Amino acid sequence: MVMRLAFTDRGIGPVVVPLHGFPLSRVMWARQIEALSASYRVIAPDLRGHGESPVPDGVYTMESMADDVVELLDRLGIDDPVALGGLSMGGYVALALALKHPNRVRALMLLDTKAEADSPEAAEGREKSAKAVLEAGHPGSVVEAMIPKLFAEATIKENPGLVDSFRALMEKTSAAGVAGALRGMAVRPDQTGRLGEIQVPSLVIVGEHDAITPPEGARAMAEALPESRFEVIPGAGHLAPCENPEAVNAVILKFLGGLG
Ligand code: MLT
Repeated sequence: MVMRLAFTDRGIGPVVVPLHGFPLSRVMWARQIEALSASYRVIAPDLRGHGESPVPDGVYTMESMADDVVELLDRLGIDDPVALGGLSMGGYVALALALKHPNRVRALMLLDTKAEADSPEAAEGREKSAKAVLEAGHPGSVVEAMIPKLFAEATIKENPGLVDSFRALMEKTSAAGVAGALRGMAVRPDQTGRLGEIQVPSLVIVGEHDAITPPEGARAMAEALPESRFEVIPGAGHLAPCENPEAVNAVILKFLGGLG
């Protein structure tokens, strides 16, 4: 099924494609789009079921979401490999894309994410959450459960405006979109054994206080990637690019600048 993803396309230069986390949208990359588009062409899609993209029924596998992104690049006539990034669920999709379509990726940026599959308990929890949001008709229960895990404690205390804006952003995601993504994440395969296949330069970024995908796991993932750099972002949690955009932008610009 062709999914015509909504997207932002800004700047001129080598293409950079950031994929957002769950249940967010391309809005989360506002600060990165602003900083990177001075030297790069940033194409930031809304993944299926999120933002302004179509909301199909069913299970959104990471592979199907990766295929949607490739379809968008095809639609834009971009055949040259791109610098692909993803945060959390976006990172699962980026990994799926890099493994399935290696010729489309020249560099990989994995932010606050992991290569492991869900545990059976986690997958069961996702199914319960999917049923609950579908029954309620809105994503409220998932959003409220996520908020305390998404940010560093200091962000919650010192930057309530940012937290509120992300609550509002997540609440815009439809119940069907949330359920589709939860069910897709629940069936994603363990990619740890395949990290060695990724032959392009990669950058692993993690917030110092990330409670969902903590720094130890991110470091192990970086070590398993053949050509990688690992960066911990101070003062940030799971949403490092939004909590400490200056530090994340500096790390990304340095990485991209070194690609030649
Ligand atoms: C995300 O931030 O995209 C999600 O927390 C990922 C997940 O639930 O595994």
